Amino acid sequence: MRRIENLLTAMTLEEKIGQLNMITANYAVTGPIVAGDATEGIRAGRIGNMLNLWGAEPVRAAQRLAVEESRLGIPLLIGFDTVHGQRTIFPIGPAEAGIFDEEIWERTARMAAIEAAEDGLSMVFAPMLDVARDPRWGRMAEGPGEDPYVASRMGVAKVRGFQGSDLAAADSVVATVKHFCAYGAVTAGRDYASVDISERTLREVYLPPFEAAVKAGAGAIMPAFNDIAGVPMTAHVRLLRDWLRGELGFEGVIVSDYNAIAELINHGVAGDLAEAAALALKAGVDLDMMANAYTRGLPEALERGLVTMDDIDVCVRRVLRLKERLGLFDDPYCRGVPVAPNARTGPAQRALAREVARRAIVLLTNKGVLPITGKVQRLALLGPLADARGDMRGPWFGAGYEQDPVTILEGMIAGLPGVQILHAPGVSITGEDVSGIPQALEAARSADMVVLAVGEAANMSGEATSRADPCLPGRQNELVDAVLNLGKPVIALVSSGRPLTISSLVERADAVLATWWLGTEAGHAIADVLTGQHNPSGRLSVTWPREVGQVPIFYAERPSGRPANPKDHYTSKYLDVPVTPLFPFGHGLSYGRFRLCNLKVSPTEVATTGVITVEVDVVNEGGVAGEETVFLFMRDPVASVARPVMELKRFGKARLRPQSSEAVRFSLPVAELAFPGLDMNPVVEPGTFEVLVGTSADETQLLRATVTLCGA
Ligand code: NOJ
Repeated sequence: MRRIENLLTAMTLEEKIGQLNMITANYAVTGPIVAGDATEGIRAGRIGNMLNLWGAEPVRAAQRLAVEESRLGIPLLIGFDTVHGQRTIFPIGPAEAGIFDEEIWERTARMAAIEAAEDGLSMVFAPMLDVARDPRWGRMAEGPGEDPYVASRMGVAKVRGFQGSDLAAADSVVATVKHFCAYGAVTAGRDYASVDISERTLREVYLPPFEAAVKAGAGAIMPAFNDIAGVPMTAHVRLLRDWLRGELGFEGVIVSDYNAIAELINHGVAGDLAEAAALALKAGVDLDMMANAYTRGLPEALERGLVTMDDIDVCVRRVLRLKERLGLFDDPYCRGVPVAPNARTGPAQRALAREVARRAIVLLTNKGVLPITGKVQRLALLGPLADARGDMRGPWFGAGYEQDPVTILEGMIAGLPGVQILHAPGVSITGEDVSGIPQALEAARSADMVVLAVGEAANMSGEATSRADPCLPGRQNELVDAVLNLGKPVIALVSSGRPLTISSLVERADAVLATWWLGTEAGHAIADVLTGQHNPSGRLSVTWPREVGQVPIFYAERPSGRPANPKDHYTSKYLDVPVTPLFPFGHGLSYGRFRLCNLKVSPTEVATTGVITVEVDVVNEGGVAGEETVFLFMRDPVASVARPVMELKRFGKARLRPQSSEAVRFSLPVAELAFPGLDMNPVVEPGTFEVLVGTSADETQLLRATVTLCGA
């Protein structure tokens, strides 16, 4: 504390603002503005923080400038987008969320933190906790899927994994929870567009993941690019200052998104940089990423009386405090382990990457062709993603080594020794050239089975990658149809950052798997599942639409006064498409056969201060060992405010040998049934609730019971 106060006393205004400034090092371009050489700025104390710089040596060199050559020797805070891995790349967010395993979520963040710290970083711009219900929005690829409870649990696990038990440890990095908030609800799925949602939806869906992450100790938060009903998040006093800092008591650092402070001018709430800087600072934004708005705007804002020196000091204190908590003052070089030239991911990292990747694969359909049996002697592996090394990393691949990812072709060759594999791409992902299709068909004709690797390119999801029509791009459908017309058994692997509209493929193919972007060990993981080395257990963390016209689509919708009824014209449905999704949230098959039975709820009458225990037996009736995921949904059928038709409250696992059974037990404090009442204050209302337990959000297969809440 004393160190920080002493520094504050010694600092000039320029040096103070320097501590609020975060500038890119040009290693990775993640926005429209690219900085020049930072050397002089660091020496002069005008640049106190950096992003997009990694690697022990470059970080050390920059840190040395700050510590040894700047007047006050304040170390730099260096951050990077370690979104789903730093060097070892794990599956993208929605895929990892679909594992529904908090231990895995934490372990991958831990490994990413270790690698990020070895790369000299002390801050990661992760986890990304944006609930996403509209696959047109490309950033769905970065987050935890559609459900606020899953996002909250994942957020907690990730914060723990990144930050470890001691932020000052050489292998800990500070987590930046992003993007606060409601970014996933941008109008029409268009990135950076405006958001207009109700206060209730904000409180029920978009705030809880951030609340959970803050309570888990997250050290930093990034406001989202969007506005909510006209108030840009970068200047959102009510949410940043009053809710986050006030109600939740968040004392960490708020770091703006890339150029977002200056963009307050484009949003139409600031007339110039001084006003923009003042709005953000007053809302509690400490770090200005890339806008130079604080550098250029704050001195004038101070002169005009828009901010005070005290306002500036508050932010500087928080930044210095974070540097102190990270141990940077005591040992600015404590992070950073040089990597050998031509380094590759090591065996332990690969083992975890493979384990996680294979557990993230979702078997969407299987008409009996999988796993591949010994009868298959020749296999045609077709499609533009069969041999697409770079794409396997997906968007935001950190500092993942380019040559590291295992392609699907390599994985299949390794996983199916003795099987002849004929490879032909047929078409490219987005191109118009179909001249490769005949060659692909020839390979298919001579094979016993076809594996089609289709989908998006990795750079078609992530930031600024909205798609009005998230279908199979380019001429891939022509390849798909031509192959399916041959009548051979066809397995389709769909790689993408979001659910794609693939109804016809799903109807016609013999098996379809969602392979998302699986990272470093993609090819091995896919082969493990196709060959039955691994019994698939991944689930959908997002509802999969049939047609783009159905989006936004999610299971937790509110009931209609006229629920869909195909026999009644005047009900909530479409004339041209069913209302049901192609696959529900939680869907995912296995090679085993599981059944749920004996749902028990106790007590059946409970005080609002009590705890509900729910138990269900999971029986493995099939011939292979496997893992089943069980979801506990609740429904409050009569309340002062209509509650969603189902809300996820718990998920659990049973890992079962063939012909065995196990009880899965959930314990749910009644307090977790609270919701924002008519006056927006949390309320638990007595009455009878439905307990819905199943292996997905498909209403037709849920086991049902009731529990009555009887007042405190
Ligand atoms: C913009 C993105 O919105 C954000 O997620 C990221 O952390 C920053 N750029 C820095 O790369």
